[in-house]
Formats: sequence, C-alpha cells, structure tokens
Amino acid sequence: MTMYTESLRAFLKPVLPYLDDESVSEIMINGPTDVWIERKGRLTKTDASFSEEGLIGAARNMAQFVGRPLTDERPRLDARLPDGSRIHVVIPPIARSGTTISIRKFFKDKLSIDSLLKFKSLTKPMARLIEAGIATKLNMLVAGGTGSGKTTLLNIVSSLIPDEERILTIEDSAELQLNQSHIVAFESRPPDKFGKGGVDMGDLLHSALRLRPDRIVVGEVRGGEAFHLMQAMNTGHGGSLATTHANTPTDTLRRIESLCLMSSIDLPMVAVRAQVASAINFVICCERLHDGSRKTIALSEVLPLTEKGEYRTQDIFVFTPVSKDEHGNILGYHAPTGIIPNFVNKARAYGFEDLDDAFFDPATYGVPPPPSFQVGEAYKLRWAPSLKHREEGLPDPAHFKEDWARFEQVLKNAAPDGPVSGHAAAKPGAPVQVQVPAKAPVAPPAKAAPALRPSLPPRPPPPEDEDEDDGRPKTELNTSEKTQIRPVPPERPRR
Ligand SMILES: Nc1ncnc2c1ncn2[C@@H]1O[C@H](COP(=O)(O)OP(=O)(O)O)[C@@H](O)[C@H]1O
Ligand SMILES: [Mg+2]
Repeated sequence: MTMYTESLRAFLKPVLPYLDDESVSEIMINGPTDVWIERKGRLTKTDASFSEEGLIGAARNMAQFVGRPLTDERPRLDARLPDGSRIHVVIPPIARSGTTISIRKFFKDKLSIDSLLKFKSLTKPMARLIEAGIATKLNMLVAGGTGSGKTTLLNIVSSLIPDEERILTIEDSAELQLNQSHIVAFESRPPDKFGKGGVDMGDLLHSALRLRPDRIVVGEVRGGEAFHLMQAMNTGHGGSLATTHANTPTDTLRRIESLCLMSSIDLPMVAVRAQVASAINFVICCERLHDGSRKTIALSEVLPLTEKGEYRTQDIFVFTPVSKDEHGNILGYHAPTGIIPNFVNKARAYGFEDLDDAFFDPATYGVPPPPSFQVGEAYKLRWAPSLKHREEGLPDPAHFKEDWARFEQVLKNAAPDGPVSGHAAAKPGAPVQVQVPAKAPVAPPAKAAPALRPSLPPRPPPPEDEDEDDGRPKTELNTSEKTQIRPVPPERPRR
C-alpha cells in the first residue's frame, strides 16, 4: 500500500466500511454529517460522520494524490483514486452544505453478459442481435442516463470484438477492461493549474485515426470530439463504439448532432445531420428504473434521413413495463417489435442464420407484440409473420387486447411474490391499447380480418428464462403503470 493510499484511508475512516463493502456501489458525502450510500441501485442514509476538518482534509488529500488543485479558485475536482474509484469533489462555499464528495466505486469483476442475462437486463436474442451488429461492423452507440449501465454495457459489447482486430480505446477516465490481445488505450488529461498540458478526447481521436485502428471505442462522447468520431465512423472505421447521454434513439442522434456543432469545424447543420445519420447504424438504450435495476430498453436501427432531413430510427427490441408488484417492482418483458432490421441480410450472410424472420416475431417467444415503440415515418417496414397485417396498414385483430390482459396476469403469477390479485387482468388501465404504427387508421375490410390472426399461443408463458431470485432488484417503475415507454411518434409511418 502506498503512502497516499494509507493516508487517504485514514482520512476516509468514517466511510471505510462502505469502501470495503463490495455491495456498496457509490458513497455520497454531502457535508460532514450527511452521508449516503447506494446498494443495488437504491440509496440509503448512513450514520457515518466526519469532522469538518477531516472531510476537507480527505478532499485535499485526493487532490494532492492526482496532482490537481482544489482551491477557492478551483473548487471542483474530478479524479480517480488508487483503486480505480471515480471521485468528484466540490468544496464550500460552492457546496452549501459543506465539502461534497461522491465516490463511485470501481469493481474489478465487471459484469458479464451472463450476469446481465441473469438480472434480466436484456434477453439472449437481444444479446445475439448485438453480437451480429459487432460481427457486421455496425457503428453502435450505447445511450442512457447517468448510472444507467452504459459503460458496463459498452465493456461487454466491446468484449465481443474479434481478437485479431486492433482496438483503440479513448476515455476521459479509464474504465474499459478489454481482454483482446491488440489494444491501444488512451486517457484524456485536463490542463494543469496553469492551463497547460491538456489533452482532450478530440486530440486523442486525431491520434487514433493515424494509428491504423480497426475499431475505435470511445468511453463517453460529450463534446466537440463527436464530430471527429462521426468522421471516423464514416470513413472506414466501421464497428466503432461509444456511449452518450441520451434517453431514446432519436434523442441520441440529436445529442450527437448538437455535440458536433460544438466542435470548431464550421459545417451547415444539414451536412452534420447527414453525417450523423450515416455514421451511426445502431443504438442501444439503457435505463435505470426506479428500483435501481438497469435494463436495456431498446435496440434500434438507424435509417437514412427522411426527405425532410429528419432522423429516422426503428426499434427492433424493446422493454415494455406492464405493471408492478406489491413491492413496487415493475413487471415487464423484453420482446422484438416485429420489425425486421435492414442489416439482417448481411448478418445472415456473416453466419447469423438464426436471425430469420421468426427471430423478430414476438409470437415466437410467446409474448404479445409491444404496444409502444419508436418507428421512423415514411419507410417501408417489413414485419414478422404474426404481424404481417401491419404491412397492409391493417389494425391488430381484436384478440390482441385479450392476449394482453391475459399476459399481464401471467406476468403477475410469475412474479416472485406470486399473484398480486386474482382480478388484476381486469383492472382498468391495463395496457390494452395496442398502437399500430401503420398507415393512418383504416377501417379494415371485414373479410380481411379472419386471415390476420397470428399464431399466438392462447396462454403465453412468462417471457424470459426463469431464474431464481438473484438477489438483485427486480424491475420497477414507480411513476406509471402504463405500457407507454415513450410517446408514440406523431406521424404514423407511410408505406
Ligand atoms: N445491468 C445491470 N444490472 C445491475 N447493475 C448494473 C447493470 N449495469 C450496470 N450496473 C451497475 O450500475 C452502476 C453504474 O453503471 P455504469 O455502467 O458505470 O453506468 P453509466 O456508464 O451509464 O453511468 C455500476 O455500479 C454497475 O456495476
Ligand atoms: Mg459511464
């Protein structure tokens, strides 16, 4: 143990038990006597307390360790502790309740794809689709809010990159842990106290492009470097990966666009937009639900811009929250939307023959078609077998509603605490409004209806593999019991 580590531990004595506790993921110190921890995504207040001098001492010690100033002029500090934990410090008077420190702990044992499957963050078919995206060298962005699991997922997705490729990683603070044999890792550096010596992500991308990468993996895109990344993605560095802070696939594209406009390059917005739309092929959206569980809530393909120059994406897999159990845990399911992605032909040619039309059909998994998802307008959609009628612009058959109600009951029966209520399926507000993203509401010709019945089993089984309780929080969404993940796009797609 180095001298710094020892003295730092001495300064952090009141929170040492939490630093050493593997189940604690974040420690938040909001002044000397207000200390919180995060466990399994949930926050709890502790009775740990510091003395005012002890706390500011800890903050100064951290600053000293990373060789950065923490003074009246620079009252904020971003740093990494010797064990890899990430810290952020803000000192008074900016921090009104006293020295504020947040420590995000670094775990050596990164989550694997198997643990994500076990936590039901995503499903096997979703993982398979992502794998196909990597194999066919799609440029992918992992999007989500803070702590939604973006970096974790980026790490896992990057680990699928074939070993023979040369991978360049660029990060603000090194969190990626890749096991491939040919890796060049860069970490940016803020300027010193004289404003000198800073190397930002844009600089590192510039270098990366001259170092013959097969793939570029960027931790988090949050500035003008986005523009250089789009260029790299568009100029033969397919299969590049990055994360960014956004909630939906189209938000992701818009966010990247506005970051591009932050770069010093002067380009008209339409040109930037065209670059963004053609650079990014696939978006993976993560979300931290209210009970602390993390889910991959959408896998979406990016389509070319519309004629009006607007972004267009189509969700391929989505997570649909259905209801919640007694403990407020959300009950929901992952399913394909039924839309067949465009890149699938290439994927099949690359050996992913299992990605046939049935792979994209919710009926294959015995789950109802997700009622709400994003789909770009004015694009010819191809639908999976049980949803073929949507290609004709026909509404879903009436029995879909009943299937939904039944399915909600199935989910509740399968919940860890058993059935919540025998009448839950009949509850008003149950998600029965299936919104068909097809042509403007057309009254279906009466005779067409019988032919539309898909091969949904009468009583669908629970959607995902039955794992025993893994101790992790189950999904939950406190605020809403609706199945609406996000507003349905204003315009219905035209064929
Ligand atoms: N699918 C998941 N299930 C449970 N915990 C997760 C999952 N993904 C990430 N985590 C945990 O959530 C925390 C934040 O994850 P991270 O990937 O750093 O989020 P982000 O990069 O979006 O801020 C970490 O402690 C990580 O171990
Ligand atoms: Mg992150």
